[in-house]
Order: sequence, then structure tokens, then C-alpha cells
Amino acid sequence: MTKKEGKSAKPFVPEQADLAKLRKAVQGCRGCELYRNATQAVFGEGPEKARIVMVGEKPGDREDIEGKPFVGPAGKMLHKAMLEAGIDPEEVYITNAVKHFKFEKRGAKRLHKKPSGPEIAACRPWLEAELDLIKPSIIVCLGATAAQALMGKEVRVTKIRGELLKHEAAQYVTATIHPSALLRMPEEERRHEEYRLFVEDLRKVGEKLKEGR
Ligand code: URA
Ligand code: SF4
Repeated sequence: MTKKEGKSAKPFVPEQADLAKLRKAVQGCRGCELYRNATQAVFGEGPEKARIVMVGEKPGDREDIEGKPFVGPAGKMLHKAMLEAGIDPEEVYITNAVKHFKFEKRGAKRLHKKPSGPEIAACRPWLEAELDLIKPSIIVCLGATAAQALMGKEVRVTKIRGELLKHEAAQYVTATIHPSALLRMPEEERRHEEYRLFVEDLRKVGEKLKEGR
């Protein structure tokens, strides 16, 4: 019996490419099945010299339509939180663990779905290529999917949240909650408290960066 090859974006990632070339090439990726139903791939955005890279899960409904990461409600909240944490959003490179929108149709609505382990693994070569070029000081994983992509399946965000850990693709990696999780919290008091903690996690990142200057 031949071993079944896992799906991977690898054959679609051009070698020795800059971010502009990668951004173009990702539209042709067939590394997993998610390209089939999405409008387009959504690549990362931000300066190539960014010292912070933030990694989300996958593009959402708005991102799928506009072709840019974090332009919907979660992105607005992330932007606000960065400003409150003393991080200039213009200096941050923002991307996702998975580059195509995954969703389920419910009438006219497209409900987002979590990417599977094999989809996260399949898409990782794009994220690795981005990190290889940018060589950031700190990678911020927003939620479990990003943490899984960069720290392995076993990692639990609740256990390592806010800690600055060593990583081969950066000086440090850290993980925090995903801003979409904040938006989904029905209880206002809890949502405010969690938002405050989220800003605190980001503030630590900004401060660590200033230490190194
Ligand atoms: N959520 C994500 O994880 N990424 C986006 O780009 C938008 C929402
Ligand atoms: Fe390729 Fe990632 Fe899109 Fe899958 S989700 S087709 S691996 S870019």
C-alpha cells in the first residue's frame, strides 16, 4: 500500500520570491480544497520590514470579498486594541494561518467554519514563506488555529496566553485570544474584561519590542 500524501501548498509556493510574488502566486494555490468555494485567496498585508507579525485564523466573509485580511468587524476591534496597546497598526504585518475563507451556506448567509488540522498543515508553507521574508521579532498568534499552525497541535492558548516563547521563525512567539471570540461574547461585562486582557497581551508585545531597540 502506498502512503497517502497529505495535501500541501508547497508545490504552489514559488522559491526565492518576494511578498508581491507570493501574493500573486497564492491565487493559484490548490493545496487543499478550500480554494473551490472561496472568492479569492487572502494573503498577508503590511510592511516587509515589520517587527510584529500577527496571525489570525482564516479570512472571514468581508475579507473573502475584499481580498484583504482583517477588514471586517474582528479587524476593526483588533485595530482599536492595537492603538490602545501602543502598537502602530501601520507597522504590523497581518496575515492568517489559512488563506482561503472556509464557510457553510445557510440561506443567504455564509457562516464561517474552523479550518481542520490537515487544512492548517496544508496552508502552512505560505505562512512560513511570509515569516522567512519578514523575519519578525515577535509573532502574535490570534487564537488556537494560529497557535496550532506555529506551535503544534498540542498547544493550548489558555495555558500559554501572554507568555513570550522562543520560536525558530522569530525571537518570540506569543498567543492570545482571537478578536472574533471577543465579538461573540454575549455578556457585556465579560466582553469588556476580556477585551481589557487582550489589550494587555498586546501591550506586552509592544513593550518587549521597545526593550530591544
Ligand atoms: N478572522 C481571521 O482570523 N482573519 C481575518 O482576516 C478576519 C477575521
Ligand atoms: Fe492553498 Fe491554503 Fe487556499 Fe488551501 S487554504 S488552497 S493550502 S492557499
